[in-house]
This record gives sequence, structure tokens and C-alpha cells, in this order.
Amino acid sequence: MIIEAGLIDEGDARVLDNSLSIETADKMAENVVGIFQMPYALAMNFKINGKDRVIPMVTEEPSVVAAASHAAKLCLPEGFASSSTSPIMIGQIQVVGLKEPEKARDMVLKEKNRLLEHATGKDSALVKLGGGPKDLSGKIITTKRGKMLIVEILVDVRDAMGANAVNSICEHLAPEIEKITGGKVRLRILSNLAVHRLAHAKAIWKREIIGEEAIEGILDAYEFAANDEFRCATNNKGVMNGVSAVCLASGNDTRAVEAACHAYASWKGKGKYLPFAEYSKNKSGDLVGEIELPIAVGIVGGATKTHPLAQLSLKILGVKSAQELAEIMACVGLANNFAALRALSTEGINRGHMELHARNVAIAAGAKGKMVDEVAAQLAREKNVRVERAKELIYELGKKS
Ligand code: MEV
Repeated sequence: MIIEAGLIDEGDARVLDNSLSIETADKMAENVVGIFQMPYALAMNFKINGKDRVIPMVTEEPSVVAAASHAAKLCLPEGFASSSTSPIMIGQIQVVGLKEPEKARDMVLKEKNRLLEHATGKDSALVKLGGGPKDLSGKIITTKRGKMLIVEILVDVRDAMGANAVNSICEHLAPEIEKITGGKVRLRILSNLAVHRLAHAKAIWKREIIGEEAIEGILDAYEFAANDEFRCATNNKGVMNGVSAVCLASGNDTRAVEAACHAYASWKGKGKYLPFAEYSKNKSGDLVGEIELPIAVGIVGGATKTHPLAQLSLKILGVKSAQELAEIMACVGLANNFAALRALSTEGINRGHMELHARNVAIAAGAKGKMVDEVAAQLAREKNVRVERAKELIYELGKKS
């Protein structure tokens, strides 16, 4: 179907069966002895800024792809509206051993233009694309080991995730910073808390489609998360079910995005850990869901280039920039959160989850082919999703056939 839709060609389709070679894997990490495969699935029904998107997701969890697709369907025909800010990352240079840290900061700031120019020389390719170093600032932190100066450089990394570019710029600047301050530079590294690189998504779920009860339930669920950190962590995990699955499918760094999102939720709440998505009711009584996440992902470099399926994902998604990819990920995160809250606050997630989980149990018990669905359906009907019961059913079905 995706070939017919013109998203991929026959050659691309062959990658689905035989994606990562052991030779490539061996170059991606160390001591490689095999390839760990995961389900590669497509979320459907996503309309984003008026454009239909088929969204590859890599996840081991049953019901995540179905939940995202269903949530996306329920907000049609409008779908999602998304936007994003420029791909600006922060690089940090830690300076210690300063007698007068405040004075050292002023000295660095006086040389800001020269330092930015010096940093720009490091990555001319990025500058040609309109990116590169954009600003520089300094802050003092007070620690158990005394005051430290933290010099921060803002870098527009365009379509890259940006870690390599930012880290190289920080390393390139470090000797200059030492010369100016007379201090010792220790760490030179990007910050994953990408507060300047935000992706925003919004959707409206109509009252006549999802019903009053679901809207009230989701608003109650949202308030629970907004006022209890133990619930909030689980709520936000549900968002990451979607975000991380697209992140992985596109060969991006899931840990970087996860660290960013959770840290951002606390930073934005000034220490209070907030839900990633907010919900409200508009004048017509429809449910409005909105999400804002710092999503530092790339479409060039790293595994996005080396992993054949990551390349295929970008093709299926039809994205032309890292910002576009981040916006899609924000929409999927919102969809997964909506789906989880709707299910939890009405019928509970166990029923749907149970049916999908039952297939895993059936497979674990040894079911093959058509028998997987037959055994799973029976396990779910009996509300007895256990491997022992699945084995009995396989035996019974085997005798019948
Ligand atoms: C399970 O992977 C995710 C949920 O727990 C999220 C939530 O509770 O909101 C269902």
C-alpha cells in the first residue's frame, strides 16, 4: 500500500525485510555481535498542517501505534496544527579556578563578537546553510567547590541534531576563554535542555465525535497529572511512547529527546514537574490539546544516515527539515497522550491493552501463523492472559486441526 501511495518504491520495500547489515552495525557501536530487531510500524490518519502523513514508529509496546492512529483519526478532518522555533542549541563551557568570576564573565562578554567570529570559523558548512554561532552569554554558579563561570554559546544547527557541531565549537573556543579569563576550562559540551528549540502541536477533538464524558474525563486526568508528580511521570511517559518511537524510527537519539523533555517540564514549571501536554475546553465545548516540547532531532548525520530504515522513515514521512520532523513528533506525542487519557478516564486501558498483549503471550507460548490471533482472542475473552493457558489452547487447537 505504501508503494501504491507513492511513498516508497520496490527497492525501498526490500529494505524493510533486510535493513541493517552486520557490517554497518559493527561500525555504529563497539563489540557488536548481532542485530537486535524491533517492530517497525506505520501510524495512520495523521493530518498535520493540512498535509497527510504516514508515520513510522519503532516500539516494542503493544497498542502504542494503534492508540496514536486512533487519536489522529478522532481529530479529523482538521487534524493537527504544528509549528516550531529555530533549531538553536546551547553549548556550555565550564571555567573553574577563577579569583574573580564576575570580572572574568565581563571580560568574556567584552570579547563576545570576536569569540563568535572565532567560533564561526569552526563550521563553515553550517554557516553557509544559514546556521552557526548566534549568541554568547555567561553566568556564575555557586557550588561546593566554589564559584564557576559557565559560558554559553547559542548555535543554530539547522538540520542536524547538533551535538557534534556544538561540542566542536565549544572545544574550539575553550583555549580562547582560558586566555581571556586566566581560569581553567573543564567541560565543553552541549546542553540537552534545548529550551530554544521547541516544537508545538495543537489539536481539537470535537464534542460530537468523542462525547462529553470523554472530555470531562480527560480534563480530570490532566488536572491529576498537573497536581501530582507521581501521576505526571506516567502521563509524560505516555507522551514519550509516541515521541520516542518516531525518534527511534528516524535514527535519532531517544535519550537526548527524553532528557530534554523531562528537564524542560521542570524548568518551565520553575521546579514543579508539569505534564507535557495541556488540555482545555473551548467555547463550543470541544477539547483542545496542546503540547510544547524541546525536540532536538536531525535529518542529517549519525544513524539517520547510516541506518537504512532511518533513511526510509524520512522518505515515508516526506520531511524536508529537522524542524518538520520535530513538529511531527510533537503531534504523535500529543496523540498518544490523548489516547491514553481517554482510555484511562473512561473504560480503562486494560481491555484494549489486554487484547494486544495477548498476542505477545500467544507467541511466547509457541503459537504460529493464524493460531496467534485465535489463541489471543480466546485469552482475552477469558480475561486470562497467561502463557500456561495459551499453551493449553495451542494444544487443543492443534488437536482439532
Ligand atoms: C503506558 O505505556 C502509558 C500509560 O501509562 C500512559 C498514561 O498513564 O497516561 C497508559
